[in-house]
Amino acid sequence: MYDSFNRRINYLRISVTDRCNLRCTYCMPECGVVTLPHEQILSFEEIVEVVQYGVDHGIEKVRITGGEPLVRKGIVDLVRRIAAIKGINDLGMTTNAILLDQFARPLADAGLMRVNISLDTIDPDRFREITRRGNIADVYRGIEAARKAGLRPIKINCVVKESSDEPDAMAIRQFCEEQGLEARFITEMNLETGHFSVVENGEGGHCASCNRLRITANGDLKPCLFTDLSYNVRTMGLAGAYQAAIGNKPACGSINQSNQFSNIGG
Ligand code: 5AD
Ligand code: SF4
Repeated sequence: MYDSFNRRINYLRISVTDRCNLRCTYCMPECGVVTLPHEQILSFEEIVEVVQYGVDHGIEKVRITGGEPLVRKGIVDLVRRIAAIKGINDLGMTTNAILLDQFARPLADAGLMRVNISLDTIDPDRFREITRRGNIADVYRGIEAARKAGLRPIKINCVVKESSDEPDAMAIRQFCEEQGLEARFITEMNLETGHFSVVENGEGGHCASCNRLRITANGDLKPCLFTDLSYNVRTMGLAGAYQAAIGNKPACGSINQSNQFSNIGG
C-alpha cells in the first residue's frame, strides 16, 4: 500500500482496549476516562480480519497497544491468532508491564516477538506519582520475565517533559545500559494542540517517512496520530476504511481532538 505521498504503509498499530490499570498524569485524568461500551469494542474475530486484510495489502509489522493491552481478557489468544497470520515479520506489544510477569511466557509462546515497556523513572515514589497507582516492583518483575521468555529486544519508552537530560530520563538511560535494554525518549505530546516531535532513538514523529496506520479498540482506522480523520471498519467495511485511511493520510500531523492517548495507544 502506498499513500498519496508515495509512502509505503507497512505498519499497523492496534489498540485492543481503551482501559488501563494505571493513570499516568500525562495520559489520563485521575478519575480515568469514559470507556467504550462493550458492544463497540472489536471482537477478536474482527481484529483478526482487520489484520489479515492489512497483511494481504502490504502490512508487515504489527504492534498491539491500548490503553493497556494486558487488561484485555483473552489477550494471549488474540496474540496467538494474530501471530498465525502469514506475512507478519515483526509482532510487538507496548505495555506498562504491570502484568507482564504472568504474561511474558504465554505471550512469547503464542508468538509475540518483543515488547516496548513504558517506564519514565526508576524511583519508586516518582513512579507512583507519575502513574498515580503503580508499584515499580511489578514493572521490574515484568522486565525480568520478558527477558527470560526471550522477548527481544526489550525497549523502554520514557516520556520526558522536554529533553532526555532530565534527571528521571538520565537515570533511565543508565538503568537501560546496565540492564541491556534500549531506551527511547518521547517528548510529552499533546494531541489537542498538535504538540509532537520525533522520538529520540525511535521511528515516531518523522512525517515524511511515516509508514503507519492505527486502529482504535472500536474499529476506527486512523491514518495519523495527529488527525481527526478516522474511518470505521464496521460502518465502512474493511476495503472502504483502508482505502479511505490510506488515501487521506496527511502529509504531516496536525491536531487530534477526537482521541486520547488512552484510546489510540501512543
Ligand atoms: N505524550 C507522549 N507519550 C505518551 N504516551 C501516553 N501519553 C503520552 C503523551 N501525552 C505513551 C506512553 C506509552 C505509549 C503507549 O504512549 O508512555 O509509552
Ligand atoms: Fe496506562 Fe499507558 Fe496511559 Fe499510563 S500512559 S495511563 S500506562 S495507557
